[in-house]
Amino acid sequence: MIDIHSHFLPETWPDLAARFGTPDWPWMRHTEAGKAMLMLGEKEFRPVYDACWSASRRIEEMDRDGIDLQVISATPLLFAYDRPAQQATECARLFNDSAREICCGGAGRLLSLCQVPLQDTDAACKVLSGAMRDGHVGVQIGNHVGERNLDDEGLIVFLQHCASEGAAVLVHPWDMLGKERTHKYMMAWTVGMPAETQLGIVSMILGGAFERLPENLRLCFAHGGGSFAFLLGRLDNAWRRRDIVRGKSTGLPSSYLRRFYVDSAVFDAAALRFLADVMGEDRVMLGSDYPFPLGEEFVGELIRNAPGFGAAAKTRLLGGNAERFLGIAEA
Ligand code: CO
Repeated sequence: MIDIHSHFLPETWPDLAARFGTPDWPWMRHTEAGKAMLMLGEKEFRPVYDACWSASRRIEEMDRDGIDLQVISATPLLFAYDRPAQQATECARLFNDSAREICCGGAGRLLSLCQVPLQDTDAACKVLSGAMRDGHVGVQIGNHVGERNLDDEGLIVFLQHCASEGAAVLVHPWDMLGKERTHKYMMAWTVGMPAETQLGIVSMILGGAFERLPENLRLCFAHGGGSFAFLLGRLDNAWRRRDIVRGKSTGLPSSYLRRFYVDSAVFDAAALRFLADVMGEDRVMLGSDYPFPLGEEFVGELIRNAPGFGAAAKTRLLGGNAERFLGIAEA
């Protein structure tokens, strides 16, 4: 069993606000043994526990849940895409090194996705190449950089580079739209994130990104692809009926489903079945968002207990598809 969507945080890192001379950088406030609050400037962002930074704690919980391999990536809060590229590059190196350190303590059962300064295509490509040499298996990117969606020229060039480096790419929603109306009740997570992910996929399809990317690019969207699968019929209908919808796409939106994967973090068995029907049982992979508070509490439980999947399909969802995505499938 392979979990392709889990997060890490180093136990500590240098004071970025002091280093760069600007406020509102993330930092860790340790509250008691094994517990901390991820802070953003003076704001409490998220309570976390030592599974974020301790490989041995992760392995313990992986054993509890029957997980063989886990892919760790930083939280998008650390991307720094909205900062000067040099600062984002430093952050990427810092957190990428931490990820490798945690993986080294994981007895071969932890793999890592790096982060890159995506606001600067050249720097991002350079950091990615270095990270792949250092042992990362791919990269986690946000679904946009400011106003640039995933059909942006620089982002497409970066994704082409990922394909040439053999890097798996996990697209994670971040920097959610409509902040002024979603700041209460964590609606940025429950409403904004699924919309961002959908926006990322739709931008790539209609912006002609897939026409410019090689078939061997291994790409996955988090959280089941957000709102995408459920609203694909609406998108196809619009594509058929209004030519202004089509952009640079050369076929119906639903004809692009073979070009990417989604993870299984939908938290509902009927939704998972629907997702597999839309995407194909070979395109959905276990992804938990472990060990964050909105992640799957017992990793793999949803797929293992889902009715309507045969044993072979469950094997694919729980690990077989991830082997292909990560490029670790046996020939
Ligand atoms: Co996540």
